[in-house]
Amino acid sequence: MSPTHTRLSGDSKVTEWLADPYGGPVIRAMLAENGHNEKVFGPAKRFSFNKLIKLSGGRFTQEMLDDLIAKVDAAAAAGGAPEPEAAAPAPTTAPVEQPEWEERITDGRFTGKTVIVTGAGSGIGRATASRIAREGGRVIALDISEDRLKEFAAEHDGLDITVVRADVTADEDLAKVLDAAGEKIDALANVAGIMDNMTPVHEVTDEIWNRVFAVNVTGPMKLSRAVLPRMLAAGRGSIVNVASEAGLRGSAAGAAYTSSKHAIVGLTKNSAFMYAETGVRVNAVAPGAVMTNIEARFDSELGQDRVSTAMAVTPTPASADQLAASITFLLSDDGVNLNGVILPSDGGWSAA
Ligand SMILES: NC(=O)c1ccc[n+]([C@@H]2O[C@H](COP(=O)([O-])OP(=O)(O)OC[C@H]3O[C@@H](n4cnc5c(N)ncnc54)[C@H](O)[C@@H]3O)[C@@H](O)[C@H]2O)c1
Repeated sequence: MSPTHTRLSGDSKVTEWLADPYGGPVIRAMLAENGHNEKVFGPAKRFSFNKLIKLSGGRFTQEMLDDLIAKVDAAAAAGGAPEPEAAAPAPTTAPVEQPEWEERITDGRFTGKTVIVTGAGSGIGRATASRIAREGGRVIALDISEDRLKEFAAEHDGLDITVVRADVTADEDLAKVLDAAGEKIDALANVAGIMDNMTPVHEVTDEIWNRVFAVNVTGPMKLSRAVLPRMLAAGRGSIVNVASEAGLRGSAAGAAYTSSKHAIVGLTKNSAFMYAETGVRVNAVAPGAVMTNIEARFDSELGQDRVSTAMAVTPTPASADQLAASITFLLSDDGVNLNGVILPSDGGWSAA
């Protein structure tokens, strides 16, 4: 007898697909073809596939979903899937469909402010730059990718955005950013960053270590060093660094990324302390998992096993707009009494 099959669609959650006698094998085969297993979904397994398409930044597409559905339908029609595994124990609390969060713009919150945002071409930086511009700010949007910046500017036609293609690790590029910003710089969001390849210290290469530190630590330090004289002269300014859950604990990434994010936490606290009497505030946001284009490769079996195990308790990933809400709060005058704060924006991961 062929196993019972409930029709799967884009509205079905990843967990439902994995538990389905036809959907499970089809997904696991697709993952295996790409050298992954189901752990790759992490907490995103609680999303429907339609939500994954929306949030994955092109990594999971409608065509891929259509292909999966066609394969499941073909397997169900042939009745050839393996028998379903024993049913999982019923959860102690029934899952409740949560209402979608809606971004609410605070009109004019950044009017008259010039804000530099790094990594503005994608993910959290793009959402942050967008929100500031839509709240009246003048945005200097910096990214290493010219194409992403062009797309960002085209999407925000009519708003006060200057794009600058710049690598945060290149001194000559940082000079271009300062020129574009001019004398008055009210805020800086150091968002650009890269992941490592999840290697523990005995496997990390010099290349990965040096690049991750250059982008995640030295770049933000140099840009802060460059804008601070203008902020100190004005007697006001707000800097927000983007750390990570990996800046708070040892179980979220490889040795290089974890160390770099702990370093940015140190830079934030030291700066907050040093400039406490100057009107310049320096804070950081520590995101949990966020659906963006950031690439997290697993080049180490040990790393994959250890980090995936820790991921079992992480909350559902956030959207980039949700992170922009936290970052713009600290950047804006709403963060007036906050200095040296490392704000986890992680749905409660850091409470675990
Ligand atoms: N996505 C997550 O789950 C997550 C979690 C914790 C922390 N973070 C942090 O959030 C920040 C933003 O990451 P994201 O997830 O939005 O990634 P993303 O890859 O979507 O965006 C990062 C942007 O930074 C740009 N960039 C990379 N190197 C650069 C360089 N040398 N100079 C200038 N621009 C450069 C990229 O082109 C890209 O547009 C990073 O600091 C990252 O470490 C992300």
